[in-house]
Amino acid sequence: SIYHDYFFDEAAYNIHDGGYVPLVRPDVPEMKLRVPPVMQPDRVDGQDVYYTITAQTGETQLLPGAKTKTWGYNTSLLGETAIFKNGQTIHLHLVNHLPEVTTFHWHGLDIPGPIEDGGCHAPVYPDGSRDVTFKINQLASTNWLHAHPCPETAAQVWHGLAAFAYVQDDHEAALPIPHTYGVDDIPLVLQDRHFHENNQWNYRADYDPDGIQGPTAMINGTINPYFDVTTQKLRLRLLDGANRREWRLHFSDDLPFTQIAGDKSLLPHPVKFDHIMLTCAERQEIIVDFGRYHAGDTVTLYSDDVALMTFRIHEFKPDNQVIPENLIAAIPDPEPAPDLPIKKVVMSGMDEAVMIDGKKFVMNRIDYKMPMNKCQIWDITNTNDEMGGMIHPFHMHGTGFKVISRNGQAPYPNELGLKDTVSVNPGEHVQIKVWFHVAGVFMYHCHILEHEDGGMMAQLQVVDPKDPDAKYHLIDHETQ
Ligand code: C2O
Ligand code: CU
Ligand code: CU
Repeated sequence: SIYHDYFFDEAAYNIHDGGYVPLVRPDVPEMKLRVPPVMQPDRVDGQDVYYTITAQTGETQLLPGAKTKTWGYNTSLLGETAIFKNGQTIHLHLVNHLPEVTTFHWHGLDIPGPIEDGGCHAPVYPDGSRDVTFKINQLASTNWLHAHPCPETAAQVWHGLAAFAYVQDDHEAALPIPHTYGVDDIPLVLQDRHFHENNQWNYRADYDPDGIQGPTAMINGTINPYFDVTTQKLRLRLLDGANRREWRLHFSDDLPFTQIAGDKSLLPHPVKFDHIMLTCAERQEIIVDFGRYHAGDTVTLYSDDVALMTFRIHEFKPDNQVIPENLIAAIPDPEPAPDLPIKKVVMSGMDEAVMIDGKKFVMNRIDYKMPMNKCQIWDITNTNDEMGGMIHPFHMHGTGFKVISRNGQAPYPNELGLKDTVSVNPGEHVQIKVWFHVAGVFMYHCHILEHEDGGMMAQLQVVDPKDPDAKYHLIDHETQ
């Protein structure tokens, strides 16, 4: 059966906010979709893999005429796709060629905080570098790297500092689904931008405390893209990489598609949709079957009624592979520890008034402690009904959680895998199961980036019982 709805109340969409900026299809020729190159290691030594990642400034041809000043990782805009394998030990040499401090945050990787994780406590100063090492120990998933200096995350991501980071494992590699990077397995980061005079972006001019937006969709750093389809099926790894915008996606002809994975794992079973919504930082992997189309046809991807990109259908061989009904043997699902009471988290406010638990983020304050390897239920409330309220996408660093319920009801059918970001609608409370298998200090926050920078963020310390007195060097706004 096919789900025909988004599982979101229209009342929750950001279109109701006074500052909403609708998308407009740009009046420029279609341009071939950019597919980010795969990041190549400097060196491989068995399971030890070494990379250099440089945050740099550059210029990118986005529109006809002047190039746009942009930032990227090893590229002028966005970055190369890191492909990590479960079990590998990753050694990174992180270099900053920007004119300001940055950090390298691995959104979705279960790695220790606060240094390896790359939040605000791991600054890399201009012309400086930092070396980190971590082991990949998690399920196959589509994750991402983005800048995370406080409170400049939003501006730096807007300038372009965002890249894909896949985790692969043997189980996912053996599934009968598309696996050829750039051919039938495509990352798509959905963002929006506002082009000013001379094709430039201007973060300060467009700043909005509820999240910057622009009227022009940008996909993998391409404006008005097309993609040449040469296989019957495409696997699209969708990432909402916008600072604030939600994407309400569907194809022409209401072409159905099958979701196979969410943020941090495969789904237990494939779920068929003809519409899907992504909120900030969420990842959804879908498989689109173009079997009913012929060479010369085109299929359009829309958000609401605005065309985002075109798929140009070419000859393809028939693909009779069936997506398995069981995509993964089991999603980890530990029992909550009886000695850990439900942990409540409240996201409130709009504009400059955003807070978590009535407080604004303080870099050197630990807001909560929980033991490693124990499971606890967290109950996340969005009290927000000012101005109709907004969806706050709640994100945790360093782990994957399981969504248990929304206002006491079952979660959406496409959030039954592991997630690290969950949309919380205005007036809703979402319960999740949280557990960590790495120790350290980790942030949790709203992933509307201006809300995060505005203080809708807190941090917890995960305590390893073998090292209960571990000390972490937390910087503050002054020493940064
Ligand atoms: Cu996507 Cu705190 O991060
Ligand atoms: Cu993160
Ligand atoms: Cu928010």
